[in-house]
Amino acid sequence: GFNKVTSIQNLRQLRRRALLAGNTVGFVPTMGALHQGHLALIRQAVRENDQVYVSIYVNPTQFGVSEDLSSYPRTWDADKIKLAALAKEFKNNDRVGHMSTVFMPSTEEMYPSSPPSSEVDGQGSFVTITPLSSRLEGTSRPVFFRGVATVCMKLLNIVQPERVYFGQKDIQQTFVVKRMVKDFHLNTEVRVGSTIREQDGLAMSSRNIFLGERRRKVALVLLDSFKEVQKVFARGARKRRFLYNAAFDKLSSVEKVQRALPRAKRARFEIDYISIADPDTMDELEEVNSERGAILSGAIKM
Ligand code: PAJ
Repeated sequence: GFNKVTSIQNLRQLRRRALLAGNTVGFVPTMGALHQGHLALIRQAVRENDQVYVSIYVNPTQFGVSEDLSSYPRTWDADKIKLAALAKEFKNNDRVGHMSTVFMPSTEEMYPSSPPSSEVDGQGSFVTITPLSSRLEGTSRPVFFRGVATVCMKLLNIVQPERVYFGQKDIQQTFVVKRMVKDFHLNTEVRVGSTIREQDGLAMSSRNIFLGERRRKVALVLLDSFKEVQKVFARGARKRRFLYNAAFDKLSSVEKVQRALPRAKRARFEIDYISIADPDTMDELEEVNSERGAILSGAIKM
């Protein structure tokens, strides 16, 4: 089994013991409502470390005031069963590490001196990584990356893992965290795991349950629009305009079809952003270099 730890003090005690025993620690921060995407990161961490710590904490500072903090799925009973099954997977295999600890702190512990604020100019101690945090995902969610960086700084200071794991699904988050680790000299290696998808290709997400059946089907248009970009890229297109338009046109045409359907049948959406960015800096590119490639990412709001 694994230890469930709620206090920072107890977590630090376990961490110290691991250090004295010469065990490396890999860390997977999550907000719970675990799915195969989370579990894949944990498995990777088990392969690469002696011990693996997982945190489950729904961090209030990364939710905007009109976002879903109160309705974000909290499914500890189901999470516990998944983690226990995972811990068993590795039990009798002494060539890999094991999942040892689940850290579930309270907000009183995580934010000791200030009640957490979701407002842009809220009072308190925050980590801000600019300009990366205000672009793309940060444009429509201005406090999001400040909250992510702040809680990751706290968690990394508490756990002090040799390696910390993030999913490529949230690629901008991986860039924000990498930059924070570099600029604040945090002694950890950031590892990125590939995106785990449902059978039909939709990236797994704790929030997919909010979509409902109709929107769930239409949500695939985002991935379809990326496949259009891949097609024109394969045919030789390198300029931003052509790549961008391939995605934009696909999204627009499906949006139009949805808009024309009767209310009871349609699933409307808006394009939030489409980004074609440098693979090292995530700066927007005017032209993609064939060798270096680019990061294609985007969001639609349903
Ligand atoms: P959460 O959404 O729970 O995701 C936890 C980790 O799992 C993140 O690194 C995320 O990128 C990864 N992940 C989610 N879905 C995935 C998928 N389909 N394939 C691969 N990896 C996936 O991201 C957060 O929580 C929070 O912002 C957090 C980093 C915990 C800070 O609060």
